[in-house]
Amino acid sequence: MTPIILDCDPGHDDAIAIMLAVADPAIELLAVTTVAGNVTLNHTTRNALRVLDMVGRPDIPVAAGRPAPLVRDLSTAAVMHGETGLAGPLPQEPSRPALDVAAVDLMAHTITAATEPVTLVATGPLSNVADLLTQHPLLVDQLAQIVIMGGAVDLGNWTPAAEFNIWVDPHAADIVFRHGCAADRIPGRVPLTMIGLEVTHQAWLTDEHAELLRGRSASGTFVAELLDHFVGFHQERFGWEGAPIHDAVTIAHLIDPTLVQTLAMNVQIEVDSPLCVGRTVADRWNVTGLEPNAFVGLGIDRPRFIELLMKRLLP
Ligand code: BDR
Ligand code: CA
Repeated sequence: MTPIILDCDPGHDDAIAIMLAVADPAIELLAVTTVAGNVTLNHTTRNALRVLDMVGRPDIPVAAGRPAPLVRDLSTAAVMHGETGLAGPLPQEPSRPALDVAAVDLMAHTITAATEPVTLVATGPLSNVADLLTQHPLLVDQLAQIVIMGGAVDLGNWTPAAEFNIWVDPHAADIVFRHGCAADRIPGRVPLTMIGLEVTHQAWLTDEHAELLRGRSASGTFVAELLDHFVGFHQERFGWEGAPIHDAVTIAHLIDPTLVQTLAMNVQIEVDSPLCVGRTVADRWNVTGLEPNAFVGLGIDRPRFIELLMKRLLP
């Protein structure tokens, strides 16, 4: 089993990532931490708690993190996920509050207490992850790896240049990528995998998947109702047949590392340019000669991803 901490901003696809992590026997979900991103922190935290209730795991610790990015003001994606972050199913109050500790402290405690190196998965803006790396430098070498959903080698989705998670908190992303490596261990650096839009735009579900899930169980209907909204949004906004389940790909990659094709490359984050802020400047052809600091996803075996995801979501 791969022990993980999932730092997220649920969010439809974050919710499905949590559900996949809980359902797959290859993953041990040690803790969930939340960050402001898709919607405000109170909503992302409530949603994480609610999803864990839905899958019968109210025992998994949850702590809330940063309510805003390191430097910039918070911008949300409520237009895509709804004001509560989980438009579709009827809102429901979680059975418990989050722990009374900060996300970064729950992360540090979990990493320290674990009997083997923990993988940190981030599916929202990287604000909490940056805090962990800067506030707990001695823990960096205790992490197995960091896997993030974010960035793009080519075009962005929130601006022409930038993907949403990186665009929201580019300064945090800059810190994380400066700590990344794409080789055997380097002290003070951590193997980093970037699952960006080249991968996740191939990882989409459609109305048909919603129908397969609906009515099979409470959680199946919950995902179907999430997809009703999320697929509908992508059909209307982009004219796509389905919705990319971006964040679930991070978990799928850990379950089956043959699903996503990756290449080691140097990635730097643009933090200044008004036009290109949040861009992941990925040196695909090694024109800079700079040392690779991340394994960057370039594609995914979609049929096998869908098969895995549906197998775990179907009761
Ligand atoms: C990312 O942005 C968010 O809206 C999604 O949850 C995902 O993490 C995709 O760009
Ligand atoms: Ca997310």
